[in-house]
Amino acid sequence: MFTALKVKYAAVRDRKITTLFDTSRAYDFAVQTDGLFFDYSKTNIDRETLRLLLELIKTAGLADKRAAMFSGEKINITEDRAVLHTALRKSSGAVTVDGQDVMPDVLATRARMLKFAEELRSGALQGRGGAYTDIVNIGIGGSDLGPAMAYLALKPYSQGPKVHYVSNVDGAHVTDVLAGLDAQTTLVIVASKTFTTIETLTNAETALRWMGQSVANPADQFVALSTADDKTAAFGISPDRVFGFEDWVGGRYSLWGPIGLSLALAIGADNFTAFLNGAAAMDDHFQSADGADNLPVMLALVGIWHAQVVGYATRAVLPYEQRLSRFPAYLQQLEMESNGKSVGIDGQDLTVSSGPIVWGEPGTNGQHAFYQLIHQGTHIIPCEFMIARQGHEPDLTHQHQLLQANCLAQSQALMLGRDLDAARAIAASKGFEGSDLERQARHRVFKGNRPSTTLIYPKLTPYCLGQLIALYEHRVFVEGVILGINSFDQWGVELGKELATALGPVISGAQPGPENDPSTLNLVSKLTHG
Ligand code: F6P
Repeated sequence: MFTALKVKYAAVRDRKITTLFDTSRAYDFAVQTDGLFFDYSKTNIDRETLRLLLELIKTAGLADKRAAMFSGEKINITEDRAVLHTALRKSSGAVTVDGQDVMPDVLATRARMLKFAEELRSGALQGRGGAYTDIVNIGIGGSDLGPAMAYLALKPYSQGPKVHYVSNVDGAHVTDVLAGLDAQTTLVIVASKTFTTIETLTNAETALRWMGQSVANPADQFVALSTADDKTAAFGISPDRVFGFEDWVGGRYSLWGPIGLSLALAIGADNFTAFLNGAAAMDDHFQSADGADNLPVMLALVGIWHAQVVGYATRAVLPYEQRLSRFPAYLQQLEMESNGKSVGIDGQDLTVSSGPIVWGEPGTNGQHAFYQLIHQGTHIIPCEFMIARQGHEPDLTHQHQLLQANCLAQSQALMLGRDLDAARAIAASKGFEGSDLERQARHRVFKGNRPSTTLIYPKLTPYCLGQLIALYEHRVFVEGVILGINSFDQWGVELGKELATALGPVISGAQPGPENDPSTLNLVSKLTHG
């Protein structure tokens, strides 16, 4: 499937990206939709490469697979589940799973959740000590990363109670978050799709004990977000405080439904609805736009070109937006838990690499940390820049302009670089001469020709954040389809969980079984006896 593209790459690998620019490349190698502008002109993709990449989606049967996902077919074959996070942001229409339309339940749960959010925000719903001032969301993975990322992203829209997130089983996390909160005006949300996740349940029990020190019926100030009614009841949370969802929502895709409750509490029902609408608009675009005009498709094809054709092992996501500081971490789960697989849907080993390693930090901070390697290191890292046309601080437009200038300058520097002659001139201007000048100049060379893309969005509103997240979700889907992967299971997290369960008692003093290796046993001994 990748043969023609690999042949193509072999023929153009040493070419300068700058030589590709004709009068229209900057306009043609871009996708524009609903306020978003995605530029991929600073990559080594030319018109023929684009044609070959677009053939991939035909060969992989993207159109049929996309239709199967949206219509509720059980495309997650290893768990025999439909994949319907898109239903959670629909406002009308029907979606059928096992012969039943799921939309009435989706809409009823959304209405109940938003009513709860509004009642709590207005003070109609109170804790033992009066109106709620603080919300603690206890969850991990998809039950944490999405809402925590979005809460930070949408800070300008937060007029509700303060929201705090606890995820790590490290007792330091829950301790530090609860310290200073008034239990009598704090609501605890236990967010767990399965309600079996050890980190979440352990932290929830700690929070329940903390709450019990000041509140007579502590479970009354708890809410559960889960698919497991029996387990939330066993924990003591009354059914009217449980917001349920179905197993056809994957954890890392679950922000749009009850798992988004903490966000809805912060930003309110109208803003949360705008957030869903942004995602739904991206869903429509993804289903209707033609290949090269389809934003998720093009984001995916650029990703496939860099990771599977060229062979770059990682990609950096670099939002020039401080409020998107958790977006790279969110994408790590979304992309790496979805496409970090080495067998395809058919159970056979992949013949190409799996999805790449995703990492990043917001600009401009990253510039003063790891950009050195991005510009001059021996690894080539495709960079995905993100920047808003407008910030939220009207008095600080000059700072936003500086941010924009930095973002554009980085992609420019990556592509253009600086050659030895220019570096020599700089070294000479600093007073270096002879062999010293030559040595100094070589340190100042930027080889350039390093690929990047830039995504411009209007302003980080709830609607826009919805668009962005849905864009990346669909990118993952398209890449997964091309790789032949089931992007919706996560068997790779299971073994570590099983072994941790077995090692827990050993660390507490039980005799280890023969299944333990000498290295691990020695580490247990060093941890427990020094
Ligand atoms: O360990 C991986 C995982 O299953 C994620 O996929 C999921 O988002 C996370 O754990 C939390 O799961 P739960 O919401 O069931 O507690």
